[in-house]
Amino acid sequence: MSPRTMAEQGLSLKRDAITHRLLAWYDRHRRDLPWRARPGEVPDPYHVWLSEIMLQQTTVATVGIYYRKCIDLWPTVEALAAAPREEVLKAWAGLGYYARARNLHACAKAVAEKFAGRFPDSEEALSALPGIGPYTAGAIAAIAFDRQAAAVDGNVERVMARVHAIETPLPGAKPEIRQRTRDLVPQKRAGDFAQALMDLGATICTPKRPNCMICPWTEDCAGRLTGIADALPRRKVKAERPRRKGIAFWVDREDGMVLLRERPDKGLLGGMMEIPSTSWTVKGSSRPEAEAPLRAAWRRTDKKIEHTFTHFHLELDIWSACVPVNTEIPNRAARWVMKRDLGSEALPSVMRKIVAAMVG
Ligand code: ADE
Repeated sequence: MSPRTMAEQGLSLKRDAITHRLLAWYDRHRRDLPWRARPGEVPDPYHVWLSEIMLQQTTVATVGIYYRKCIDLWPTVEALAAAPREEVLKAWAGLGYYARARNLHACAKAVAEKFAGRFPDSEEALSALPGIGPYTAGAIAAIAFDRQAAAVDGNVERVMARVHAIETPLPGAKPEIRQRTRDLVPQKRAGDFAQALMDLGATICTPKRPNCMICPWTEDCAGRLTGIADALPRRKVKAERPRRKGIAFWVDREDGMVLLRERPDKGLLGGMMEIPSTSWTVKGSSRPEAEAPLRAAWRRTDKKIEHTFTHFHLELDIWSACVPVNTEIPNRAARWVMKRDLGSEALPSVMRKIVAAMVG
C-alpha cells in the first residue's frame, strides 16, 4: 500500500471513530423533541420541514408551542397548503421573521401541487422550494431521508470551529466549517449525526461555558487541547445597529374598537397587521399629523415602546385619539377590531408591545 493510501485510510478510520463516539453519545442523551422521530420510528418529512423552518432564528423552547399549534391546525402539508394565508400568519404571530411564514405557506402549496404532497428527498430539489436555503435543505435531506447531507447552523459552526480549532473569524470561516462538517457526515445515520451535532451544541458545547468534561469529543477537540475552545468561534466585530424612530397611532373608537392596518406584502413584516404608524426613520417624522391614518384630535401619550430588529433598533412614541362610531376607515388596508379580539390577530411582537402598553 502506498504511503498516501495508508495516510488516507488512517484519516478515514479516525473520522469513523469520531463519528461513532458522537452517535453513541446521541443514543444515550438525545433530546426528546416534539418533532423528532423516536428510535425506530420513521421521520415524517412534513414534521421535519415545519420544525426546521420554525427553528431558524428561534429557540427550541419557543418553537415547541408554535409547532404543536400548527400540527393541530394542519396535520398534513396538504391541509397547510389549503389554509388561507391570513390564518397561517395568525398562527405565526409572535415568532418573528415573517417572511418565513409567507414562504412556509408558498412551500406547502408547491409541495401539495407539484409533488402530490410528498417532499422531494434531495438537497437540490429541496433548495428549489420557497424558504429552503442550504442549511434547511441539508437538515431535511439528512433528518427526514437519511441522505448523506450536512446541516450547518450557528450551533454546528461553534462545535466545528472548536473541534478543529478554526481561528478564522466568522463569517469568513463558513466555507471551511461547512466542508469540515461534510467530511464527517457518515454514510449511514446521517440524520442522527445532524441531530447529534445540534444537541451537542445546545447542551454541552454551549457558547459561554462548554462542558468539556462530559463531551464525547473531549479527546478529539483541538480547541480544548489548545485551551481556546471557549473563545471560539471568533467573529468579526459587527457595526452597531442603527436606531430609528416613529410614532404609532392608537385610534380608539367609542364602541371599544381600534384601528388596525395590513402591511404591504413585500418588505419587513410583510402581510402582517399593524397599529398604523409614521415611517420609521433615523430622525423621526417631522410632520406626524400628515402621516396619521386619519384626522383626529391626537394626544401624545407618555407611552413608548422599543423593539430590536435584525438590522435596526426602533423606538415608537404612541399617540392616541378617540373617534366616534361613524368614523370611516381611511383605506382598504385598514379595519376596526374589537380590543378583546386583538390577541387572535396576526400582530407581530413589535405591535403586541404597543397593544400591551395601551390595553395593559
Ligand atoms: N435546531 C435546528 N434544527 C434542530 C433540530 N432538528 N433539533 C434540535 N435543534 C435544532
